[in-house]
Amino acid sequence: MRTYLVTGGAGFIGSNFILYMLEKYKQEIKIINLDSLTYAGNLENLKSVEGLSNYQFVKADICDKEAINQIFETNAIDRVIHFAAESHVDRSIRNPEVFVNTNVLGTLNLINVAKQAWETKEGYLPDKKYVQVSTDEVYGALEGDEGYFYETTPIDPHSPYSASKASADLLVKAYMDTYHFPANITRCSNNYGPYQFPEKLIPLMINNALNGKNLPVYGTGKNVRDWLYVMDHAKAIDLVAEKGKSGQVYNVGGHNEKRNIEIVTMIIDTLLETLSKSDEHRSNISHDLITYVEDRKGHDFRYAIAPDKIKAELGWEPETPFSEGIKLTIAWYLKNREWMERVTKGDYQKYYEEMYQNK
Ligand code: NAD
Ligand code: DAU
Repeated sequence: MRTYLVTGGAGFIGSNFILYMLEKYKQEIKIINLDSLTYAGNLENLKSVEGLSNYQFVKADICDKEAINQIFETNAIDRVIHFAAESHVDRSIRNPEVFVNTNVLGTLNLINVAKQAWETKEGYLPDKKYVQVSTDEVYGALEGDEGYFYETTPIDPHSPYSASKASADLLVKAYMDTYHFPANITRCSNNYGPYQFPEKLIPLMINNALNGKNLPVYGTGKNVRDWLYVMDHAKAIDLVAEKGKSGQVYNVGGHNEKRNIEIVTMIIDTLLETLSKSDEHRSNISHDLITYVEDRKGHDFRYAIAPDKIKAELGWEPETPFSEGIKLTIAWYLKNREWMERVTKGDYQKYYEEMYQNK
């Protein structure tokens, strides 16, 4: 039985990954989910696997050396899939320090412990792999409507978030180059799907529209993101962990570029199509809610990933067309309105008021 240490498994992508892996491999694998449960971590996402003998949750910080050491001492860890991070660009602009602590120092701690646990006199124990889950934002921004990020594109981050992710990538690269640490780096475009915290564009717009609140579009709304359904990302990470050539970077993207305003318009249209006429929230929703607000500082214009290498080497391709994925996502949020209400209480309200007060 192969044992996975998944960090940040209570977050958006991590929880989708754990659900995917336990459904796919069933009892063939064991997963230890290590998460410190920040505002973005929610164990409710994993209710369906709680109690399985091959799933275990450990509440700990990735910066906590003792806690990580103990997991490696008491389990023969075969794979580390490192999702845990501070992940929201707007928060990084307001408070960069926590991004450096978690994303940079936390990653350094994790690779140090894994390296030490896996090292032998001859090299490393066989069949071990660390996967650094990174982002296309480390490449900076594409200024026009042409061109793509390749694995060879120079690193050029702009926000404190992307700078912290780029720093972590460079540390992992240094460990691969210097110590031949068995690892891969994946760089993915914007994910969407169930369980995404409603500070991010798609769930924020769904939540605001249902509540008849303004839909705050930054700047002109013309910025472009390349959207990928979260389960397609989970499949890519599984493949990289199994078949990725150690030392390699793999870009993961949906070839699905959309302007932000297109996304917001599509959400409104899909909500109006999906909600029954008697739904109490339907009358709140209209295109008039769209409000252009002050732009994000340093707002990257366009991200677009070329996923050619992962397709050629590992046979991965995005499977979910956006037209289908967005319907699945909206249907999930409509079915889970209580989840949305619970995660947007308390601290989220405070964050929202501070973040959007002048917008
Ligand atoms: P998220 O914010 O939803 O979840 C992050 C998780 O990490 C949470 O469960 C949180 O509790 C946990 N965490 C935070 N700090 C921690 C710490 N110090 N110790 C232990 N756990 C901690 O993030 P996400 O959107 O699921 O992103 C997961 C990873 O994927 C991140 O590394 C992010 O940079 C990367 N990524 C995200 C996207 C995207 O579109 N969301 C795209 C590309 C890459
Ligand atoms: O590209 C991958 C990255 O995608 C990940 O590394 C990050 O963790 C993830 O958060 C995401 O970053 P973005 O900044 O692209 O995502 P966000 O959902 O915050 O914003 C998407 C776009 O929508 C961006 O151009 C800013 C805009 N936006 C966002 C919010 C929250 C708005 O116009 N209004 C908003 O209220």
